[in-house]
Amino acid sequence: MKVENNQIYFGNESAARLVEQFGSPLYVYEYDILVRQYERLKNAFKDSTPSILFACKANSNIEILKILKRLGAGIDAVSPGEIFLALHAGFKPEQILLTGTNLTRDDIIYTVENNIIINIDNVSMLEENGDLFTGRDVSIRLNPDIHSGGHTYLDTGHRDSKFGILHKDFSKIIGLLKRHNANLVGLHQHIGSEITAADSLLDSMDKLLEAALAYESISFIDIGGGYKVKYHEDDTETDIDDIGTRISERFNDFCQKNERNLRLIIEPGKFLVSESGYLLTAVQSIKRNEEKVMVGTDTGMNHLIRPALYQAYHEIINASNVSGDNNEKVEIVGNMCESADVLGKDRQITVPGIGDVLCIKNAGSYGYSMASMYNARMLPAEVLIQGGRPPRLIRRRQIFDDLFFLTSD
Ligand SMILES: Cc1ncc(COP(=O)(O)O)c(C=O)c1O
Repeated sequence: MKVENNQIYFGNESAARLVEQFGSPLYVYEYDILVRQYERLKNAFKDSTPSILFACKANSNIEILKILKRLGAGIDAVSPGEIFLALHAGFKPEQILLTGTNLTRDDIIYTVENNIIINIDNVSMLEENGDLFTGRDVSIRLNPDIHSGGHTYLDTGHRDSKFGILHKDFSKIIGLLKRHNANLVGLHQHIGSEITAADSLLDSMDKLLEAALAYESISFIDIGGGYKVKYHEDDTETDIDDIGTRISERFNDFCQKNERNLRLIIEPGKFLVSESGYLLTAVQSIKRNEEKVMVGTDTGMNHLIRPALYQAYHEIINASNVSGDNNEKVEIVGNMCESADVLGKDRQITVPGIGDVLCIKNAGSYGYSMASMYNARMLPAEVLIQGGRPPRLIRRRQIFDDLFFLTSD
């Protein structure tokens, strides 16, 4: 993304021109930023060369998955649907791990029949379905009982979280695995998103390593994802070089000291794709109330739910008039019939005219993948910008017929 002639450009195309060509709202992804983030991560962890499994819940567009595959990533999936997509993108079963929660028997059957390892998340799963794991490799998702992550909804590794197996239930799981003749090959954790303090990740990794000591069959430990990116210019992002260096050092020391040849796995989502994605939206109304100027757009919490769900900040720029004279504090709202449908509060931007295009930043992760058809609004198109090439449509906009796609007639 760059600013030229007071407008936002992606490659050779202005945001306004992209919207003219592909319609509004529109998700836009920049290939170069995806590559940059992947390389940054790989470089930060160069001393332990982990397998990088992209948490594809962050963005499951199949063309994005293919790009990450070419860069060398594998896939962290959370559902059979994500496995299906990953296999279609060309990932091999051994490059995929499933970390689902509350999986059904059918979910498990689909996964094991595709020879994909599951991170067991709860005792009931094995009590009810242990027979499906006979003779199979499995991994366990541990709950290290550590608080981390940003918003409380992003904090997943503490004792009151629904995720993972607490230390007190570990031996029960081991017993069930033995009873069903399953082979424990890995230990997993994901303590939360938006981790800035390396210490919480190091502490929880220590717990995995300590647990791994007792089991010679364990060949990998997977420490999850959760690296924070900058949403606001004053935000602190995860110091990826520091975290990568410290984790690698601790991991390598453990392997050396205990003569274990373990594989390290990391599962970044947001870090890889957040900054590469933008949501473009055309302004439909300007409402001047007593104390507020409200800018109404043709998208909303249906397409980008993070502001409503996590009170997340996403920078918003008037892409048609980046720094005009009439700069004011405005509230940017969506077109859903919901009061929570606010995309940005108190934003100092050039007051747009009707039809101006706004650019919402950091929409590459948990944007389209969390979008819905609420209010029977169509899902937007997605476009990839790669070097000087013409923009490529990587998912078409939905049409009214898509509203019928699950009905019988
Ligand atoms: C199991 C698991 N791994 C990895 C991730 C990726 O997290 P992030 O996008 O913050 O890196 C998530 C996110 O929810 C997750 O649930």
